[in-house]
Amino acid sequence: MSDILTHTEAGVMTITLNRVEKKNSITAAMYGAMADALASAAADPAVRVVVLQGHTTVFSAGNDIGDFVARPPAVATGETPVYRFLRGIASFPKPLVAAVCGPAVGVGTTMLFHCDLVYAGDNAAFAMPFVNLGLCPEAASSLLVPQMLGYHRAAEALLLGEPFMAEAALEVGLVNRIVPPMEASALAQAQARKLAAKPLISLMETKRLMKKGQAALVKQQMDDEGAIFARLLTEPAAREAFAAFAERRKPDFSNV
Ligand code: COA
Repeated sequence: MSDILTHTEAGVMTITLNRVEKKNSITAAMYGAMADALASAAADPAVRVVVLQGHTTVFSAGNDIGDFVARPPAVATGETPVYRFLRGIASFPKPLVAAVCGPAVGVGTTMLFHCDLVYAGDNAAFAMPFVNLGLCPEAASSLLVPQMLGYHRAAEALLLGEPFMAEAALEVGLVNRIVPPMEASALAQAQARKLAAKPLISLMETKRLMKKGQAALVKQQMDDEGAIFARLLTEPAAREAFAAFAERRKPDFSNV
C-alpha cells in the first residue's frame, strides 16, 4: 500500500501518512505525494477542507533520516518535493485540520503551525530536535514557534530540542483540543465536515485575511531557513548526528 493515502468524501480530502513501520518518517516521494494532493485539493472545487492525519500511535517521526543522507534536499529551491510540500501547506487556501497522536517530530510538528485546527490524542508528543541533528528549523518555524510559544519556551523547544506533551501544546494554542487517541481522527473529521458545510468563499477569504499580514514574511523565512538547512546538511555535525541515529548511539559533537 502507498505511504500516503488520500480519500475524498463529503467535501473533505483526508491525507494519511501510512508508513507506520518507520514511524511515518517522510521520504522525498511522500513529500511529493502530499504536495500533489494539496495542489489538487486547492484546485478542485469538490474539495472544501483537508484533514491531515497519521496513526493513533504516531503522527510522524519527521524527515526520513536515511533520505537526508542519500538525497539531501536542496530545500532552498522551489522544485524539490519537500519545498513544494512546505510551500503548499503554508499557502494552502482552504481550511486544513490535523489529527495528531503519538510522536510528532521535526516537520511532524512544524507542519502543524500551518494547519488551522489541530486535534491531539492525549499521547501526542511534539519535538523539534533540529539542533540535536546539526540542523536548523524549517517550515518558518524559527518565526512561528517564538510567536506562538513566546521566546523562552521557543528556545527550550528549538535550542534544547526538548519535547513537550499535548497539555503544553494545548496551553500555548498549538492544539485546539485533546481527546483519547482513538477519537482524534473522528473529531478532526467531524470538525472538517462542519467547515465543509460553510460557504467556501467566506472560509477562504477569512483564512486569507487572518494570514495575509505575514504571508510574505513566512515565505521569506522559509527561503532563509532552506538555504541554511541545505548547507548544514553537508556539515560534519549533521553527518555525525545521522551516523549516530543509524548506529543507535548518542552523537558526539565535541569536535564540531
Ligand atoms: N527516519 C528514518 N527512519 C526512522 C525515523 C526517521 N526520522 N524515525 C524512526 N525511524 C525508523 C527506525 O529507524 C526504526 O526502523 P527499524 O525498525 O528498521 O530499525 C523504526 O522507524 C522504528 O523506530 P524506533 O526508533 O525503534 O521507534 P520508537 O518507538 O522507539 O521511537 C521515535 C519513535 C519517533 C521517538 C524515534 O524513532 C525517533 O526519535 N525518530 C527520529 C526522529 C527525528 O530525529 N526525526 C528527524 C527530525 S528533523
